[in-house]
Formats: sequence, structure tokens, C-alpha cells
Amino acid sequence: MNALVSELQQQLRARSVRKLVVIADATVSALYPHYWDELSHEFPTIFMDVPAGDASKSIAQAEQLWLQLLEACCDRDVFILNFGGGMVCDLGGFVAATYKRGVRFANCPTTLLAMIDAAIGGKNGVNVRHVKNCVGTFCQPEFELPCDLSFLQTLSEKELLSGFGELIKCAIIGAPALFCELEALEHLTPGNIQPGWIDKCISVKHEFVKRDPYDLHERHVLNLGHTYGHAIESLFAEEGRPVAHGEAVALGLFYESRLMAQIGQCRQEDADRVERLVRRHYRVPAFTEDEVRRLVDFMQQDKKNQQGHVVFVQLRGIGDVSPDCRVALDLCAKVIR
Ligand SMILES: NC(=O)c1ccc[n+]([C@@H]2O[C@H](COP(=O)([O-])OP(=O)(O)OC[C@H]3O[C@@H](n4cnc5c(N)ncnc54)[C@H](O)[C@@H]3O)[C@@H](O)[C@H]2O)c1
Repeated sequence: MNALVSELQQQLRARSVRKLVVIADATVSALYPHYWDELSHEFPTIFMDVPAGDASKSIAQAEQLWLQLLEACCDRDVFILNFGGGMVCDLGGFVAATYKRGVRFANCPTTLLAMIDAAIGGKNGVNVRHVKNCVGTFCQPEFELPCDLSFLQTLSEKELLSGFGELIKCAIIGAPALFCELEALEHLTPGNIQPGWIDKCISVKHEFVKRDPYDLHERHVLNLGHTYGHAIESLFAEEGRPVAHGEAVALGLFYESRLMAQIGQCRQEDADRVERLVRRHYRVPAFTEDEVRRLVDFMQQDKKNQQGHVVFVQLRGIGDVSPDCRVALDLCAKVIR
């Protein structure tokens, strides 16, 4: 029995759990059909698969799961385990937080992005039409499980790179020594993701969540790279060539560090280090003039913005950030050009 399953077994025993529901990403359950065999001998387990992809993060899918829970006569003492990437953690967390006014749950993340980000922090939710995370709750899992890095072996290169973007972000926000280790990495492969990197990212996220559990101010720094990142994600989605979220964040880190250096906030040598690291692993696109205009339009729509200004995370250097720095729109465009 591996460390994750054994820890879960202890936690479920300690809570005298009698019924376990595993809400799983269908791709993940197909790849790991026997992962929970040892556990399900001890705890009666019902498996509920959800089609892979962010389209499943919907009210319709949540309703489907609520109905399945009802049909399986699940009461408030049921325990839900979310098994998959960030999509399943967000959807399953939302279903658990709302079913019968809330039942206990935990996450078993299987993507790099979910291990260091989506599975922790207590935010969950679903998308409504094209609006991401429009409906959701803050609700902490009962406990956190150790990450099983062997899941990364089956992750596509695209998804690995996506998680790596968030990893770079975490290092910039609160782990300068980790940033140096990432700079020494020549090629990204599942095998060279170090367990210590994951632990460090989790502790950085915990630190900000502890200071600001409801995301009112200090936790905003976790959005570093996301202002340009979300705009890039929306632009490419509109053009029918979607990029993974974390890849857009990595490009966002590149533009935001440049922007901060240009307005004299960020040390130039630190912005250069971010640029070198991003360029080593990602292709930085050349945007046409029309695309620059549309990127700026997307940034303008962000709900945090005020009167011709865009709100960014203030980046002064590696490991030196604070929330909320207002920058004029025309400067945002200049940096992309
Ligand atoms: N709640 C939060 O704090 C938070 C933070 C960041 C992101 N998110 C959310 O997380 C989601 C993105 O998460 P994600 O990047 O993990 O995407 P995802 O859950 O959609 O997984 C990406 C793809 O990888 C596949 N997959 C998952 N594990 C695998 C494995 N071990 N081997 C092979 N394939 C595997 C999935 O089937 C899917 O096709 C978004 O919905 C985002 O909004 C939430």
C-alpha cells in the first residue's frame, strides 16, 4: 500500500467512515483502475466518473452527481474523495460543499497543477457558460493527502508544462531558492520533478491562504502572471488554438515581470531571470497588432480594473511581491509589442 492510500486509510478509520464516494476524472480512472482496490475492501466505495475536460465543471454535471449521491442513498456521513486534476477537485469540492448543506471530502490530485495549486486552499466551483469559476464556495477539505508523484508519469507534456507554469509562479512569489533550482533545470520531464518542489509550493500557498482565507487581499499575489495569462488564454481560445492554463500563466509571468521592470518596480536582472526561465520551456508567441488590441480588451474586462488602469500583482523581484499595483492600459499594450 503506498503512502497516499495508507494515509487515507488511517484518516477514514479515524473518522469511522462507512461510505466512500470517489468522484473521478474518467481518463484518470481508466489509467488507474485498481488504485483504490485495497481501500475499497475496507470501506464500501461507490465510483462516479466524470468526463475529462473543463466542460465538466458545470452546474449540469454537479446536478448529475447530486442525483447519483441521492440514488446511492448517501447521507451527510458520506465521505467524498476527488480523484483527478483541478477540474475534478473544483467540481467534486463544490458538490461536497453543497450536497445536503455540506459533506466531508478530500482531494487526491493527479496533475502537477492540482498537486501544487487546485487541490489546496479551499476554493471550489463550476463555470457558468463562458465565465470561469462563476459559482462556488470556500470550503476546506477535511485533510490533505501526500502527493503521489507517480501519477505524473502518464501526464501529457502539455499538462506537465501547464503545472510547471504555476510552479514557477510559486517560486517567484515565495521561494527564491526554489527559483534557483528551477533555473538549473535543462529539460522538464515527469522524472525530474522533485518532491521537495511540490512541498515548497504547497507551503507557499498555505501561507497566503492562512493569511487571507477568503481571498480578500493578500491572497491576490497568487494571481501573479494571471492578468496577462487570462487574456492570452481567452485570445487563443477565441482563435481555436487553446493553450493550457499554466502555460498562459508562464507567458503572463514573462510579460508581467517585463512590465514591472519598465515601470521601475522590478529589478531588471530579476525580470531577465524570469524571461530566461520562461523562454527555456515555452514558446513566446509574436502577437499581431490586432491580437495586441484584443489582448488589451480582455485585460480591460477584468473585474478588478479601475478607470483605464489594470490591476496587477506588484513584483519587485524574485520572492518580493505584494498585491494590487495599478498600471495604465497603454503601457500594458506596449510591453506585448
Ligand atoms: N481551486 C483552485 O484554487 C484552483 C487553482 C488553480 C486551478 N484551478 C482549476 O483547475 C482546473 C485545471 O486543472 P488541471 O490543469 O489539473 O486540469 P484537468 O483537471 O482538466 O486535467 C488536465 C487533463 O489531464 C488529464 N489527467 C489528469 N491526471 C492525469 C494523469 N495522472 N495522467 C494522465 N492524464 C491525466 C485529465 O483527464 C485532463 O484531460 C481548472 O478548472 C482551474 O480553474 C483551481
